Amino acid sequence: MIKRQQIKDLLKSTDFNTEVTVMGWVRTFRNNQFIALNDGSCMGNIQVVVDFNNTPENLLKRITTGAAIKATGTLIESLGKGQTVEIKATKVEILGDSDPEKFPLQPKKHSLEFLREIAHLRFRTNTFNAVFKVRHALSFAIHQFYNERGFVYMHTPVITASDAEGAGEMFKVTTLDFENTPRTEDGKVDFSEDFFGRATNLTVSGQLEGELAAMAFGHIYTFGPTFRAENSNTTRHLAEFWMIEPEVAFADLENNMELAEDMMKYVISYAKENCKEELEFLNNRLAEEEKQKPQNERSEFTLLEKLDFCLANDFQRLTYTEAIDILKSSKPNQKKQFKYLIDSWGADLQSEHERYLVEKHFKRPVILTDYPKDIKSFYMRLNDDGKTVAAMDILFPGIGEMIGGSQREERMDVLKQRMDEMSVPQEELWWYLDTRRFGSAPHAGFGLGFERLVLFVTGMTNIRDVIAFPRFPKSAEF
Ligand code: 4AD
Ligand code: MG
Repeated sequence: MIKRQQIKDLLKSTDFNTEVTVMGWVRTFRNNQFIALNDGSCMGNIQVVVDFNNTPENLLKRITTGAAIKATGTLIESLGKGQTVEIKATKVEILGDSDPEKFPLQPKKHSLEFLREIAHLRFRTNTFNAVFKVRHALSFAIHQFYNERGFVYMHTPVITASDAEGAGEMFKVTTLDFENTPRTEDGKVDFSEDFFGRATNLTVSGQLEGELAAMAFGHIYTFGPTFRAENSNTTRHLAEFWMIEPEVAFADLENNMELAEDMMKYVISYAKENCKEELEFLNNRLAEEEKQKPQNERSEFTLLEKLDFCLANDFQRLTYTEAIDILKSSKPNQKKQFKYLIDSWGADLQSEHERYLVEKHFKRPVILTDYPKDIKSFYMRLNDDGKTVAAMDILFPGIGEMIGGSQREERMDVLKQRMDEMSVPQEELWWYLDTRRFGSAPHAGFGLGFERLVLFVTGMTNIRDVIAFPRFPKSAEF
């Protein structure tokens, strides 16, 4: 059995003069003597000092950047600058060579664009070590938050026959032969011959199934991958992303807003407490990046200040109608600086408008409610005005829409009418309608885009850098 100690523990250890064994990947090797070794347990490296006079030349040559090694030696207090402990090696073994001519990660700063092309190796950089540790902590915190509140974690299907959002942005799932597609008499593709005997797709949201479970358990949440075939090549969109979708029976829009705000604050403060080193690093990273920008484009806040600010302040709540009034008379609208000018009630908000509200006007997270029914999904509860629905979007600085949710339409007749208006087929969703038929109750829920949360907490600027292997138009490498 392999035995080793983790570098994160050794860096804190004061057990000097004991024998230790570490395994990791060489970051650098200086003067045929000093190995900076990283095993991923933390961002820091441990210095392994090689006795080069008593080490064969051909072994020294194989200690190269990227190589995996095992080092055994004595843990000693370091005399060198920048570290408190080091290992005086008695034995170094090469586990896996790395040709320094070919290894793409050099001990220097690489651009994020370049690292995206070598996403299989970028975990071995400090930036991605920090990002993925924070991602891990946030996902753990989400489970802990819901577990503490008695929510049941539901695994909703990845393959489905329905389009939960009714937006038609689905990836088809099929085993039909494209070269020889079975056809019905009227020339359409005959899905009865397909694997499931019908047309199926990858899920865009687990909400509809989540609602079914909420109408039995009282409160549930999902946390799984969702897929959108929208052709959005932006720094905020992925074709495959992870979504958290709580659904609560006997709840209205107020309950929904409160749950969402509590959750956001809980998980951000969990990350702050449990990822101090990583957030410190990311904070400095962002500060460096900001320095490259012209003065007027720089952020007023550091990353850590932004997180603290978000924890300390209530999210600003206002209706869509109030937001439209603010936007209409805003400077960028008056001066025609918005790409999409706001001239009338009913306009869909673009990310430039959302960002104006959050970053310029309120300077804090904003919960926008009661949107026009025509720009929202069929399942959102119709308000008494007959024009708006009990929807909410939570907008975050630097991100725009972080959360989308609503109170659900629990009244069968209204729901059916909304489905007809929006051309959502009732026959296909018979099981969804059944919950309104048997013991319907007010209920509400929302979806949090997990990568957008990770983006906010890490201060990274491109969503492709906070998921291990991003999927987006024309790209599905790895
Ligand atoms: O607003 P959306 O489309 O809402 C739903 O899917 C509802 N069924 C949620 C619910 O009420 N249970 O998506 C929810 C969130 C968005 O606010 C955004 O953060 C994220 O999912 N999101 C994306 N994240 C990355 N890439 C994309 N293409 C995304 N589309 C939505
Ligand atoms: Mg939305």
